[in-house]
Amino acid sequence: MTSKLSNGNHRPDDVRRSFDETLKRLGLEQLDLFLIHWPVPTLYDGDYISTWKAMTELIKGGRLRTVGVSNFQPEHLDRIVAATGVVPAVNQIEVHPYFTNDAGCAASMRHGVAVEAHSPLGHGQARLLDDPVIRRVAAVRDKTSSQIVLRWHLQHGRIVFPKSVHRERMEENLKAFGFELSSDEMAAIDGLDRGEKGTLRAASGHVCRDPREGGGLRANTDMRAFALRVPSVFLLASACSHPSSDGASPIPTLVDPNGCDAL
Ligand SMILES: NC(=O)c1ccc[n+]([C@@H]2O[C@H](COP(=O)([O-])OP(=O)(O)OC[C@H]3O[C@@H](n4cnc5c(N)ncnc54)[C@H](OP(=O)(O)O)[C@@H]3O)[C@@H](O)[C@H]2O)c1
Repeated sequence: MTSKLSNGNHRPDDVRRSFDETLKRLGLEQLDLFLIHWPVPTLYDGDYISTWKAMTELIKGGRLRTVGVSNFQPEHLDRIVAATGVVPAVNQIEVHPYFTNDAGCAASMRHGVAVEAHSPLGHGQARLLDDPVIRRVAAVRDKTSSQIVLRWHLQHGRIVFPKSVHRERMEENLKAFGFELSSDEMAAIDGLDRGEKGTLRAASGHVCRDPREGGGLRANTDMRAFALRVPSVFLLASACSHPSSDGASPIPTLVDPNGCDAL
């Protein structure tokens, strides 16, 4: 079970309160993973270090197994690790064939942080799942485009959590295991990268703002108002390829959608 700290709750007292409320609303006694949703470096006087410290201290209470971050650029990761010595378990960042996010992935791996690819299917953009390269590999392998894209992520060692409201698609997405893409197929999909032009931000202009600009948040009150508007439903995320910290088998992950899509 994963949830995220929203941008309006970065002050240490708010971190603790928000975590308590998250558990209460989920009816749980423990979370597997709690993430800082965005670094929001233009807010809180740029102090996301105190936020990170407060997050890491939650583990001591026994109600949280591990902590991570989301949308952290290399400089944000470098800063929290240098300041606290505590390495996040996960960095949840945008990665898909049209935005391979090499810098974000490399920085995460350099610190030993697992990359969790958000929007792993490119947010379901038809143009990605209909891409001729993806379709060609899918046809050769007798798989769907979605399975090919998810397989590509898994072979790169990333955690994936595609979102679907359709049971048949969830089942389809879970079948990204049990076959292997060749190095040529992997390279062909790697070659689809469009850099910044391939980001969801560039594609839609409203989803996933640039974290370097503060995650699109104008003021803390925006988030509080927003949190009241968005119902706390949880979406099923299909598969998590990364072993849990105690080495157990992959853990299914539930993800709080109170986040990027609506920001
Ligand atoms: N940390 C962040 O800032 C951040 C930002 C963006 C997203 N996220 C999270 O990342 C997770 C997934 O990302 P996402 O929802 O943006 O995009 P995604 O998982 O890449 O794509 C989801 C879209 O793909 C469609 N889809 C799913 N499986 C499919 C299949 N087999 N065939 C065809 N279409 C399929 C879904 O449609 P249907 O639902 O209609 O099936 C939905 O429209 C979500 O939990 C989201 O909250 C996090």
